[in-house]
Amino acid sequence: MKNIKDLALENQRVLIRVDFNVPMDEKGAITDDTRIREALPTLEFIKNNNGRLIICSHRGRPKGERNPDFSLAPVAAHLEKLLGCGVQMSSDCIGQEVEEEVSRLAPGEVLMLENLRFHKEETENDAAFSEQLARLADVYVNDAFAVSHRAHASVAGAAERVASRGAGFLLQKEMDYFQRAMADPIRPLAAIVGGAKVSSKLGALENMLSRVDKMIIGGAMANTFLKALGCSVGASLVEDELLGAARSLLQQAETQGVKLFLPVDLIVAEALANDAVSKQVTCHEIPDGWMALDIGPATSIYFQEALADVRTIVWNGPMGAFEMDSFARGTMALCHSVAASHALSITGGGDSNAAVKKAGVSDSIGYMSTGGGAFLQLMEGKTLPGVEILR
Ligand code: 3PG
Repeated sequence: MKNIKDLALENQRVLIRVDFNVPMDEKGAITDDTRIREALPTLEFIKNNNGRLIICSHRGRPKGERNPDFSLAPVAAHLEKLLGCGVQMSSDCIGQEVEEEVSRLAPGEVLMLENLRFHKEETENDAAFSEQLARLADVYVNDAFAVSHRAHASVAGAAERVASRGAGFLLQKEMDYFQRAMADPIRPLAAIVGGAKVSSKLGALENMLSRVDKMIIGGAMANTFLKALGCSVGASLVEDELLGAARSLLQQAETQGVKLFLPVDLIVAEALANDAVSKQVTCHEIPDGWMALDIGPATSIYFQEALADVRTIVWNGPMGAFEMDSFARGTMALCHSVAASHALSITGGGDSNAAVKKAGVSDSIGYMSTGGGAFLQLMEGKTLPGVEILR
C-alpha cells in the first residue's frame, strides 16, 4: 500500500477522503472531534507540500437527500480553527460549480466538499458519480479508516479511477496497529468482546477465537452464553435463536485451547433505568423479571486477573449499560484493568472509546481506533474495500 509520503503532491489537486462523521448536539456543536483531530497530520502534510486540498466526507445517513441537518459546514468551521487557515465550504461534492471552485484553489488552500451522502449514488458506488469525484483530483488519499469497510463511491469507485493514490497517516496507523495486534501479536493475546448482541459480533467472535489465547465476553451478549450454559437469565436481553451458536463457540474455544471468561456475577435491575432498584447476584441467581445490566465486582476482579499476564489486548464493546452511572462500574473497572495491564491495548468502537474516556484512562491505552464497523470487520478477519483498492 502506497503511503502519502510516496506521492507527488506539489501543486496537485489532492482529493482526500476523511471520516468526519462526528457526533453533534441538538445545537449543532461537535461533541467529540477526535476523528477530525486524527486526520490533521495528513491534512497538514498535504498543505505543507503545496497540494491543493479537496476534503470529502459523509456525515450521518441522509439517505441520498440534501438535508441541512447533515451538512458538513459546521465541521468546516471547526476545521478552520484546528488548521489555523481558511477552509472554503462547497455547496455540493460534484458538478460544474465544484469543478470551478477546485480549479481556483491555489497550492496549500483547502476546500471542503458537502456531504457525499446527499447523493444516493455515493453509497451505491455508482460509476458515473465516482467518475465525477475522480475528475476533481490528480491524487487520491484515503485517510478514512472508519468508513473503509464500505465499498462506496468515495472509498472505492473514485479511488480506483485516480492513478496516483495512497493511504493517509491515520489509515496507515490504524492498519499498522491492527497488524501488530492480530497478525504478529506478542502473546498471550486476549480479546475482550462486549456489547448488546451476539448476532452483530458472531463473525468477530468466531475469527478471534481462532487467533487469541484468551477471550473475555461481557455485556448483554454474555447472557446468551450464560443461558446456553444452563443459567436462567430472567428478563435479561438474550438471543434465543443464537443459543446453538453460543454453544458452538464455547465448544470451539475448548477445542482450540482458548480460555474463555464469562461473568460470574452481575448487577441486575427490574428496569433499564438509572434509578431502578438494583442488586448484585451470582450468574446462577438472576431472579425472574430482573435483567442483567452490568458485570458484578467479582467478575471485574476475575477479568482483571485474566488480563494480568497478557501482552496484547483487542477490545470491542462495553460490559454493561455504562451510559447510566448505576450500571457503569463494571465497564469502568475493565477500563482501569486494561489501562493498568502490561499489554499493548487496542480499543475500537464508539462505546468502548467513550467508556475509556469516561474512565479518564485514554492516555494509558495503546491505541484507540477511530473505527466502529471497520474495526469489527478487521476482527472478523475480513479485508476492507477502501484499503484493498490502495494495494
Ligand atoms: C462510522 O461512524 O462507523 C462510519 O462513519 C461509518 O458510518 P456508516 O455506518 O453510516 O457507514
